Amino acid sequence: MRSSFDEPYLLIPGPTPVAPSIAAAATRPMISHRGREMRDLVGDLLGRLRALLATDSEVYTLGTSATGAMEAAVRNAAPGPFLHLVGGAFGGRWSDIREACGLEGDRLEVPWGRAFDPDAVRDALGRRRYAAVTLVHSETSTGVLNPLEEIGAVVGEFEETLLLVDTVTSMTAVPLELDAWGVDLCLAGVQKAWALPPGLTICAVSAAALERSRRAPAKGYHLDWSLHHSALEEGQTLTTPPLSLMFQLQAQLDRIEAEGLAARYSRHRDLQARVAAWAEDRFELFAEEGHRSPTLTPLRMEGYAVDSILEGMRDRGWILGAGCGRSRDQLIRIGHMGEMRPEILDAALRDLDGVLEGARERR
Ligand SMILES: Cc1ncc(COP(=O)(O)O)c(C=O)c1O
Repeated sequence: MRSSFDEPYLLIPGPTPVAPSIAAAATRPMISHRGREMRDLVGDLLGRLRALLATDSEVYTLGTSATGAMEAAVRNAAPGPFLHLVGGAFGGRWSDIREACGLEGDRLEVPWGRAFDPDAVRDALGRRRYAAVTLVHSETSTGVLNPLEEIGAVVGEFEETLLLVDTVTSMTAVPLELDAWGVDLCLAGVQKAWALPPGLTICAVSAAALERSRRAPAKGYHLDWSLHHSALEEGQTLTTPPLSLMFQLQAQLDRIEAEGLAARYSRHRDLQARVAAWAEDRFELFAEEGHRSPTLTPLRMEGYAVDSILEGMRDRGWILGAGCGRSRDQLIRIGHMGEMRPEILDAALRDLDGVLEGARERR
């Protein structure tokens, strides 16, 4: 059933399994990163990523994990102040990065497992003039999908305020309409719903964000969007890029376009509904109802030792995630994104039932 993928099968919320044809795309011969083939590759990726994200923004492919692109966003939107919407570990990471850069900002917090209320965001923006708001769309530590469109409309009421969004576990699994929703920066590492090996981050930067970047005081060199902009205008990247990953991204765009975006989004919604239905008489879902991410499901493991469940699943060929940060020992997190199919998920849940039964018997 899962014979075309490696075992043990990764059910963590990224990195995710990579399809064999996509793994093979990494073996394409190298090209000159300053040559004609590179211009073709960069142009092709730019057009297709813009279509996918419904935007006219610049779209850079950066040779870094997502955190590097988050730091780039903070440095290019500097000096702030920033308003960080923090409802989990990755919302907090924006704030940590900003502090590490020596910049000013505030946190608007919700309890882990809860989504942000756009009205609360409006109230916070009314109390102080912020240069930028940071948001995590799908918070991987809690499984919450925040209402991006509604928050975008609120931030849009504040003309000077940029909206910087981490879409690490939503891009390609959830519709994104960056221009219509007023998103100035959207980023995603490719090891999640893109189902590629880690090392590349897609980063869409609006004209307003680029303008802000031109005035930002201490961007350094490698993270400077205006330098990435000049390179893109030449059909190049600023520095030598991870070419193999770019080939894989191009191949994955073919697969995504063949599946069709609407079908891909509905496949992810169905996978989430499947886990939720299975969990109904077993466990409480950590994320609040109505705001559950279609790409991962954290379950409250009341009465079970998380590590022994994870070990039991590993023995059966599945790697699941523990909780993240402060919820490390209370949750297991099941990733269901990228190449995930209903029959693979059902097989994993059947094995999880077996592991849970064994754990109950030992009690
Ligand atoms: C929502 C979110 N943001 C940021 C990150 C950080 O990504 P990376 O480890 O690629 O820097 C992750 C990683 O899991 C994530 O899930």
